[in-house]
Amino acid sequence: MSANTSKIPVRIAGTGSYLPAKELTNKDLESIVDTTDEWIFSRTGIRSRRIAAEGENTSDLATEAAKNAMEQAGITADELDLIIVATISPDTITPATACYVQHNLGAKSALAFDISAACSGFLYAMEVAQRMISDGNFKNALIIGAEKLSAFTNWDDRNTCVLFGDGAGAAVLTRGDETTGRILSTKIGTDGSQTGILNIPGGGSACPTTVDNADQKLASLAMQGREVFKLAVNAMKRASEAVIEEAGLTAESIKLVVPHQANLRIIDAIADRLTIPNEKVFVNLHKYGNTSAAAVAIALDEAHREGKIERGDNIVLVGFGAGLTWAAAAIQW
Ligand code: UT7
Repeated sequence: MSANTSKIPVRIAGTGSYLPAKELTNKDLESIVDTTDEWIFSRTGIRSRRIAAEGENTSDLATEAAKNAMEQAGITADELDLIIVATISPDTITPATACYVQHNLGAKSALAFDISAACSGFLYAMEVAQRMISDGNFKNALIIGAEKLSAFTNWDDRNTCVLFGDGAGAAVLTRGDETTGRILSTKIGTDGSQTGILNIPGGGSACPTTVDNADQKLASLAMQGREVFKLAVNAMKRASEAVIEEAGLTAESIKLVVPHQANLRIIDAIADRLTIPNEKVFVNLHKYGNTSAAAVAIALDEAHREGKIERGDNIVLVGFGAGLTWAAAAIQW
């Protein structure tokens, strides 16, 4: 955990997001797998999700979100020192998706690398970037959560294919001062004993896709939903409480919580446990489903652009995902 009291303060200068145009509704899914709009909506809160076009890669989604964030921040590609892309659906195993984004933006002097922390990835990126800025060596960082999960979805598996979607969100972090908002506290954590309950089992070096196993679609998201559900609620509650306490905030002083968008029942349970009313918790998963590393970033941008976050407001971002990983940040806007 870090409470940013001694080093250079770090603030969010701009946010952006990008969603592919194609919508895939629950009704559409009824003709693909044995499911119903009623089941999906009542169990998850999801009504629709976006699907990237053929040839539209994770780096393309990331680049568009980045451009929006940079425009809002008033920062040009030349001024970027650092680009971190959080993703579990990279364009290629190597090089990093961030390298494609650096080239797309023409951000020639920016260091660029990826973070793989699943749905917590955007907040892991925030933690790393704010430390690098806070130490004084970097000034302007672009952090992006971007996913093309449709490329890693088994469209025959109703347990998972109804949950995920594609999209990207971004934020520009920069040096703050006494007159600006700042990231107040952060917490990230990992439990590597639970790698088996949420993963993409194939396609890596442990289980390459071969002619013999290709029909098993092992390079697709697999999840033991109920187990993940319970752990998600507990981990996000604990991470949120930790950053709220470290920042010296109270539940009453928080204007908005922006949680990972996986399941409305998880979001409601967290709000309940934090004693934060539902109207102070931002939800957009009905439109986009679970976009993993992009979810918190897209939600933050939408909340900001809808005027739900204003200068001086205290907000909490919180996520949870495969790893298992969890992360939270308390921010004064
Ligand atoms: O982003 C990373 C973190 N991920 C999460 O936090 C996700 C956490 N988990 C969840 O959100 C929920 O566990 C799910 C939405 C994935 C599943 O909801 P659930 O209430 O836990 O349902 P379940 O998996 O226990 O399945 C209940 C029933 C099963 O049928 P039986 O065995 O009771 O006859 C499933 O086969 O629902 C069935 N089912 C479906 N039925 C219609 C599963 N998927 C579907 C479907 N349509 N799409």
